Amino acid sequence: ELDDKVAALLSEMTLEEKVGQMTQITLDVVTKGDNQFSSAQPYQLDSALVHKAIHTYKVGSILNTPGVPLSRQDWYKTIKIFQDEAAKTPRQIPIIYGIDAIHGVNYTIGATLFPQQIGLAATFNKELVKEVAEISAYETRASSIPWNFSPVLGLGRNPLWPRLWETFGEDVYLGKTMGVAMVEGYQGNLGDPNTVASCMKHYLGYSVPLSGKDRTPAWIPERELRQYFLPAFREAVDAGSVTLMINSGEINGVPVHASKFLLTDVLRNELGFDGIAVTDWADINYLHTRHKVAETIKDAIRMSVNAGIDMSMVPHDFEFIELLVELVKEGSVSEERINSAVSRILKVKMQLDLFENPVTRSEDYPDFGSGKFAQVSKNAALESFTLLKNKNNILPLEKGTKILVTGPTANTMRSLNGGWSYNWQGSEADNYAKDKNTIAEAFVNLGNVFVEGVSFKKSGIDSNTSQEILFEDKNNISAAMKAAKNSDVILLCLGENSYTETPGNINSIMMPKDQIKLAKALSKTGKKIILVLLEGRPIIFNEIEPLVDAVFMGYLPGNHGADALSDLLFGIESPSGRLPINYPKHPHAFVNYNHKHSDNIAVPNYYESDYDQQYEFGDGLSYTSFEYSNLSLSSSEMKQDGSITVSVKVTNTGNRKGKEAVLLFVSDLYASITPEVRALKGYEKITLNEGEFKEVSFTITKDELSFVNESLETIAESGEFEIRIGDLKKKFELK
Ligand code: IFM
Repeated sequence: ELDDKVAALLSEMTLEEKVGQMTQITLDVVTKGDNQFSSAQPYQLDSALVHKAIHTYKVGSILNTPGVPLSRQDWYKTIKIFQDEAAKTPRQIPIIYGIDAIHGVNYTIGATLFPQQIGLAATFNKELVKEVAEISAYETRASSIPWNFSPVLGLGRNPLWPRLWETFGEDVYLGKTMGVAMVEGYQGNLGDPNTVASCMKHYLGYSVPLSGKDRTPAWIPERELRQYFLPAFREAVDAGSVTLMINSGEINGVPVHASKFLLTDVLRNELGFDGIAVTDWADINYLHTRHKVAETIKDAIRMSVNAGIDMSMVPHDFEFIELLVELVKEGSVSEERINSAVSRILKVKMQLDLFENPVTRSEDYPDFGSGKFAQVSKNAALESFTLLKNKNNILPLEKGTKILVTGPTANTMRSLNGGWSYNWQGSEADNYAKDKNTIAEAFVNLGNVFVEGVSFKKSGIDSNTSQEILFEDKNNISAAMKAAKNSDVILLCLGENSYTETPGNINSIMMPKDQIKLAKALSKTGKKIILVLLEGRPIIFNEIEPLVDAVFMGYLPGNHGADALSDLLFGIESPSGRLPINYPKHPHAFVNYNHKHSDNIAVPNYYESDYDQQYEFGDGLSYTSFEYSNLSLSSSEMKQDGSITVSVKVTNTGNRKGKEAVLLFVSDLYASITPEVRALKGYEKITLNEGEFKEVSFTITKDELSFVNESLETIAESGEFEIRIGDLKKKFELK
């Protein structure tokens, strides 16, 4: 029925109207002055420019925010103006407004901000992730915005890449299952006023540029594209995600925005995706100006539309519209291609109920920014913090312990939230999250806490580059050392400043010298040190790891991360996060956990290991202990079309309640393509009281045993497989 409605509407539309629908401009194009990346206030729409965009050029979509976040009421007013104008056009097609609400609707003042995706992955808790997405959708829609450019479905397999923290980590299975949870949470029953369209991004292979720098070339054999990078998109398409954003980069010398193979053959014909494929920022133009595969902008538009894009995030002008109309008139782009793109756009607008309800009223969302949502954010942070070292069980701390809280990430909301927080680079976080606690504030509130060495006042870090996390002032080191004398332990907060995309590029993955210097100086005081890392990628700190007694990886835990940390340190809660990435020990030793056997061919007596990680995927300690027993398989043989049930008993053998993420790994022992040493194929988060046990079961089918062979077919080869949960192992044979 929807398809009929779409067809009827499409049949009335002029070519110009159709091409307008395929165009997405940034908000800046219709505001007074140039305030995209500045915090220039006040922000004001320019009615002549709004008229020009919507009536003259018939633009169908707008994205983004001015340099600062808006109140819900301002979002409502802004979007209502667009929708009212759209309602005056002949076809009355509503605008679809899109935004990066990637850890909550961070461009709306007072919204709930959650841990970033990498932290959500560390929870290994799909249900929780789905709940986070449901709340994000509710608050996004409460801001009258129906389209969220999230989740990121690329894999964080290169620690240098500045957007690693926007992924669910390095593993295929974790990425695809978390991705589905997020899509389901966002879209729910799409069209309900609490739901938003999700956007799978960035299709395909964006996350592994060879140099590690954002948007630089990637070289990925098709076999790997299919085995590692495609599954999360395939599953999210099957889960019903209605939009997709394209990778800005090039793979094997072909920019993805010009790849008919990826955008049509694979995406449409193989995956069966029938939603909107939107470009990333100005990426059609880049085919000409950056990638140099198109001699003119017009040629770039022809290539990209013919390859299969449906909507162009232009974002600054209307040239796309004029040139695409010309291309169709000349016959270089078929009207049929335009019709298919526009049909998809109209359909999503209808699915979102925008024709009937183009705006939502903020009064209808009473739970926006509520304490109940904050609690979910805190729970997610609690489950994401990953305890990687706890020498002599220094943690949890006794009540009344005197703590020195220090370090460059101790007193800023930027390092808790990361990029896409209140603005693009997260640089407004200290101004707009004043009512939330930094780590220093969370601990000061507990008493018996000294905060020192904090030149890093709120807003003190004003650099836009992640490496310039600053500890410039030598006096801070001596002040911190002096304060340490009066404390029992030191809570040392290191890591990164907020960043995303190309401004987050780095030339070194080593922890900055100033931070190393601070840690070394503090270790000389003889006090025990608890290290907290707030960072978006695994910054190498092997030089100081032996100097600290405990290590908490915090990732980017969001606005309630500091409160969660204080509960964890004092044992109000027990940690249960696990690393969703390998944490390298050396700068030239990036190896993913599911590596090949020949990644480690160390020669005994000469050197010990090529696979020398500081910490490994899946690592994460608890304050209680869990014992795994009774690993059993429903059969020792499995047929290709059959399945096997794996079960294990997990007992809390410690003296307190705790959560445990139970991980199941599978190893294909011999295969025609060199097998991985192991790969995650199941996980479940459980809660056990002291002394309690649970049986956890997983079902293994052919899908979990398959790989992509030399002929690019996904197959499971018969032979022996090994199942591993904890330290327990069992084998079975695939017939
Ligand atoms: O959604 C983002 C994308 O991830 C990076 N470039 C800009 C887009 C829109 O803000």
